[in-house]
Amino acid sequence: MKHLISLKEQSKKDIADLLELAIDIKQKREKGIATPYLKDKTLIMLFQKSSTRTRLSFETAMTELGGHGIFMDTRTSQLALTDFGLEIQAIMRFGHILMFRAQKVADVELAASFNRIPVIDACSEKYHPAQALSDLLTMVEHSHGLQNIKKIAWLGIENNVSNTLALVCAKMGIQVAIAAPERDIDSIDEELDAQLEATGKVKRSLDLKEVVSDADYVHTDTWMNMEFFDSGVIRPEFKEEFDRRIQLFTPYQLNADLIERFAPQAKIMHCMPCHMGYEISRDALDHPNSIILDQAENRLHMQKAILVWLLQNM
Ligand code: CP
Repeated sequence: MKHLISLKEQSKKDIADLLELAIDIKQKREKGIATPYLKDKTLIMLFQKSSTRTRLSFETAMTELGGHGIFMDTRTSQLALTDFGLEIQAIMRFGHILMFRAQKVADVELAASFNRIPVIDACSEKYHPAQALSDLLTMVEHSHGLQNIKKIAWLGIENNVSNTLALVCAKMGIQVAIAAPERDIDSIDEELDAQLEATGKVKRSLDLKEVVSDADYVHTDTWMNMEFFDSGVIRPEFKEEFDRRIQLFTPYQLNADLIERFAPQAKIMHCMPCHMGYEISRDALDHPNSIILDQAENRLHMQKAILVWLLQNM
């Protein structure tokens, strides 16, 4: 059974197939051609953390594929009251795919280990594969083909998003340059690091000019973890860490000055939500090179491809 967890399991061909499928489904939508490939199928969308894009893209994807997406969270279900392993097995009896935004990837892996239905990691502390594949789609479109993407740059903290983005790019032969003074400790996966290393495509440096020069795309993401916030406000117990990170990462902000000085050719990307004025400036978001909203929209098209691909030949 196929699952989408870290992208470690997916081959170059798998990624190419997902891209081809996403492009085809997107083109059909633009021409008004229906794609009811998942009629009568149900996606269970389980969230232990908040979301805008992931929920909207997966739920809309299921609607447009002729199926149905059910939203569940910890607050309004019985998950917090009982044994997770047992409850998730019951949950999986009701759907054909489980999409799970978990606090801990171990719970996603546990759900997948039952091999009852395909499981998608929808952003754990280590991975965000659906984001990485969607970002690859956006870059392929803007570069008019995978073969034209030579290098991407990542600025700020190394985290779950950079793990899977770097892996998908490196597997597809794209050079990845990273300027990050620190990694999010919870995101570290030594097996993923070894796969990345083996590609020979990843370079780390704190020299911003070296990292962004010649990059086709410059990416960043929030320096903060979701658990630092409660309804958008920093929780008191994380205030010190919040301030420390701002001090450490501010020199690696993605802003218009950096792009204009060192990489005027590069497109600006951010998976959103943006913490404006921190990891990305207002002038970068408004810059003509910014493709952030195309990036957000492509979550929908790639999510459809992921859902169809996972259920193919089952
Ligand atoms: N990029 C992303 O996963 O967005 P959400 O947290 O809004 O789902």
